[in-house]
Amino acid sequence: MKVARTAADVRNALAADRAAGRSIGLVPTMGAFHAGHLSLIAAARADNDVVAVSLFVNPAQFGPSDDLTQYPRDEAQDIATADEAGADVLFVPSVEEMYPPGFDSWVDPGELGTILEGAFRPGHFRGVATICTKLFAIVGPARAYFGRKDAQQVAVIRQVVRDLALQLGIVSCPTVRDPDGLALSSRNAYLSPADRVAGLALPQALQAGLAAHRSGADAVAAARAVLDEVHGLSVDYVAVADLDGRTLAAAVRVGSTRLIDNVLLA
Ligand code: PAJ
Repeated sequence: MKVARTAADVRNALAADRAAGRSIGLVPTMGAFHAGHLSLIAAARADNDVVAVSLFVNPAQFGPSDDLTQYPRDEAQDIATADEAGADVLFVPSVEEMYPPGFDSWVDPGELGTILEGAFRPGHFRGVATICTKLFAIVGPARAYFGRKDAQQVAVIRQVVRDLALQLGIVSCPTVRDPDGLALSSRNAYLSPADRVAGLALPQALQAGLAAHRSGADAVAAARAVLDEVHGLSVDYVAVADLDGRTLAAAVRVGSTRLIDNVLLA
């Protein structure tokens, strides 16, 4: 696996593959790899000739009160993990590489970027849309892989690709969970054992919402009823929206950790 630090390094690393018409799959990440990330790399590996993974903790998608400085980072471990998972190129740019002095062009996903996560994290999806568009421009993938765990992010990226007529496919991959149901997240590392027990109510609430939906009842009310019972957990939102399909999505806070999850209403 090649480790590329600049856009020019990436283009050089992929030049022969591109010239030979080999398909490139891109997996954008912020590192601290877990089985969710690895499932995206495996999907990209299965569909493409070449797999590129990016590892960049994108400051533009963190708000002033977000956890940018505390975000888990372990580059050496991630390089070894990406290599073992079958990546061909790992792009690990610096902040200066992605946002050089004078950088001032942004991709704003509009209304979709202002609801749900966007209402609690103003500017978040502008940061996500901008960095993903730039990664697409640098790597030139045939397909890019995203997790359904972040269903609104998938919807934002699909909208950007459609609106800007970008030439790639977006593949949405199933949420990977721990056996107890908690969706894997780099942020789970911050949960104390008690927080984790409280956080388990999130997937349980979504399952209750899905069951209610299937029996013709109100999914949001059913999910909220489960969450409202839990001590030490506060709800940011529970809502149904057309994201990556009709989705019941929720965000909660346990201690200082924010957890999001969703389920497809099907
Ligand atoms: P990050 O949180 O590192 O996630 C990278 C990718 O892994 C995203 O597409 C995310 O949805 C997916 N993912 C995370 N947890 C998952 C799980 N439990 N199951 C399946 N997939 C999961 O999302 C980002 O980074 C950033 O916003 C990024 C797209 C890289 C732009 O900076």
